[in-house]
Amino acid sequence: MTNINLLDYETSAKELLSAMTWDYYSSGAGAESTLKDNVDAFQQIKLRPRVLVDVSQRSLQTTILGQQIESPILVAPSAFHCLAHPDGELATAKAANQAGVMMMLSTLSTKSLEEVSEVRQGLNPNVGQIFQLYVHRDRGLTRALVERAEAAGFCAICLTVDTPLLGKRERDSRNQFTLPPELELANFRGLELAVDGGKQAESGLFAYFQQQVSPAITWADLDWLASISTLPIIVKGILRSDDAVRAIEHGARALVVSNHGGRQLDESVCTINALPEVVSAVDGRCEVLLDGGIRRGVDILKALALGANAVLIGRPILWGLSVAGAEGVGHILQILSDELDLAMALSGCNCLADIDRDLVHKSH
Ligand code: GLV
Repeated sequence: MTNINLLDYETSAKELLSAMTWDYYSSGAGAESTLKDNVDAFQQIKLRPRVLVDVSQRSLQTTILGQQIESPILVAPSAFHCLAHPDGELATAKAANQAGVMMMLSTLSTKSLEEVSEVRQGLNPNVGQIFQLYVHRDRGLTRALVERAEAAGFCAICLTVDTPLLGKRERDSRNQFTLPPELELANFRGLELAVDGGKQAESGLFAYFQQQVSPAITWADLDWLASISTLPIIVKGILRSDDAVRAIEHGARALVVSNHGGRQLDESVCTINALPEVVSAVDGRCEVLLDGGIRRGVDILKALALGANAVLIGRPILWGLSVAGAEGVGHILQILSDELDLAMALSGCNCLADIDRDLVHKSH
């Protein structure tokens, strides 16, 4: 089958991956309502295109944290890329770099942050990479991760704040999801991270979070993080205006409106509906990104119209990686950019600054 859109890639990836890996990537928490709502909510928003605008000179370029990127797309952090393809995060990094978009690397990557950074240095060092952080119970280990990311040239730290415990993904519990023995948590290579298997009917990752990741992080830890690194901090997992304001007060340079792809608190508000409240509270004081449910270029247009500076793409990157490694990821990024470019042309926009709130129907 020729994959011409992201949903084609989803179908192809499902055919290729083991049931356990497919379930891990695709599942959400609980009844998976938020997982579904994230996608469906985009279709409730309708566009109001402007006509008779000369759209012959278009550009998708923008800046995030002062760095120029080729389109308002970032690769979302997601764990265990070697489950999708043997080159894992190295392939993802290569494709993102070649497309001129920033990649966020998960703490739970199957290639180390130093290896991923080498990909950037060998291709285009000007395209930044961001390190996603889970604060572990062991603060020394957490600090070491941050210091290594800074030393390796990552341009920002993205602190995930919606995961004091891992959400219960029932498909993973049924499968007792665990990393196959040939794969490793590459950022912890050589360190003793003892995780016992947990109870039956728990995934190995659930047990990992319970035993290793801190359930006690608070706003004070954001200050702590800012005190141990000179890198800008992005706070990921904001769904409310008051939390957005607090994050800025504690030094966040950008926020990600995110419900962790529907994988944490089921029944949380879908991200595109949470976005306007956060954008209004932020009032231009920092950049606002969004992830969750983006499957088409028109979805990106809607997110930008409602005030996002850029979007993060999660699962579709893994579909591309599963189907064709770096080439597949590159194609996913290309499809999204092409679709966004076309949607902009058809709605009278030449550049991202032309995409304003007035492009979406007033009910939103
Ligand atoms: C890890 O961050 C996950 O959501 O599975």
